[in-house]
Amino acid sequence: MDLGMLLSEQGRVDPPALYARLHRDGVAQPVDGAARGFAAAVYGYEAVSQVLKDGRFRQLDADYLDLTTPQWRRHPALRVLRDSMFFTDGPAHDGVRQIIGRAFTARRVNALEGAVTELTHRLLDRLAQLAADGPVEFMGEFAYLLPSSVMAELLGVPQDDLAWFRPRVLAIGAILELDGANWRNMVRADTAARELSAYFTDLVALRRTDPRDDLISLLAATELSDEALVANLITTFNAGFVTTTHLLGNGLTMLLERPRLRAELGAGNVGSYVDEMLRFEPPVQILVRYAPEDAEIEGVPVPAGQAVLAMIGAANRDPARFADPDAFDPARPDPGSLSFGFGPHYCLGAALSRLEGQVAFPALFERFPDLALAQQVGNAPKPLILRGHDTLAVACHGR
Ligand code: HEM
Repeated sequence: MDLGMLLSEQGRVDPPALYARLHRDGVAQPVDGAARGFAAAVYGYEAVSQVLKDGRFRQLDADYLDLTTPQWRRHPALRVLRDSMFFTDGPAHDGVRQIIGRAFTARRVNALEGAVTELTHRLLDRLAQLAADGPVEFMGEFAYLLPSSVMAELLGVPQDDLAWFRPRVLAIGAILELDGANWRNMVRADTAARELSAYFTDLVALRRTDPRDDLISLLAATELSDEALVANLITTFNAGFVTTTHLLGNGLTMLLERPRLRAELGAGNVGSYVDEMLRFEPPVQILVRYAPEDAEIEGVPVPAGQAVLAMIGAANRDPARFADPDAFDPARPDPGSLSFGFGPHYCLGAALSRLEGQVAFPALFERFPDLALAQQVGNAPKPLILRGHDTLAVACHGR
């Protein structure tokens, strides 16, 4: 596969067109841009699942960076990411995941439903007020605020600080893109990581002296090292809403483009709608792993130290797994996408983000039955790792 094609403007405008071409050609193939350190692109549903659960392929961890970017420890952003469970594997990962996983039990997530509903209605009230003056910017005024407020509630971050977080969270997200770690992005991400680390270090100290019923207090009392604690708070907080923000933005446009399906959306089927939105246009399109030892996947060699593109967005369109994969069909009999990953790093927030979508979409259309786009969505190229709209102007004339 031509990596340049995937990363080109055209590739970023319409990845499903590329996915359809790839699926005509097996389940994995070598990457032409191996110079960038990618040996294989894997896109068949089963093959992608295999990479994600296979111990021969690991996250781009500290060992990988020692090989590829020896100076990486000078970058606070890279250190924060590597100190978190996202970029560790094996027993170190499992131990931290178990501790943080205690915050995301079904019981705790279900207990958040009331808070999610209340926050949703509060934000809809605000949208109604803003709409009196004309179109409203949905991404900033709703899609960002709902998940970040929910995460703030869960972690114990003061709601008033959320506006401060947004640019910093986006700066860290930018270096996760396949070709995003350029000098300018790194400088911004390092500054953001320094500021976010200082912020959470202070908040942890505050909760240690004055604990509350929140995740920071809970984690501050565990055996996690201070570095791991702060790194996991930053990354979990970020992961908790950049992605869900895009689920809300992408999902909204999918519904507005399909008035018939939108009219059929209701409390009884909203779960299937949200799952189909996630399959059809996943907020994360690609995961990356590397092989510490020489390996192969589906006949494609992956030399030691080289990386593999695990293309979950393509796997979600695999015709061998999903009948008529390019149709948006909430009633499909074969759900089950890879949008939350697979294997040991399966998303800890899957239930929470589904809950947010399930509360938000019916509430939005109940309040604003005539909700419509106030701009052309257009064909601007969008990122692949964290894929969604930057802005989305909508007209909402409420009741
Ligand atoms: C639509 C929303 C979301 C999507 C599409 C999403 C997607 C993902 C994916 C694909 C992974 C796997 C990463 C990998 O294997 O490399 C992941 C991991 C993770 N997600 Fe999510 N996520 C979402 C929402 C959330 C929320 C709401 C939270 C927190 C409350 C969260 C916390 C995490 C954490 C902590 C991990 C790392 C787990 C580990 O490394 O063991 N995510 N997510």
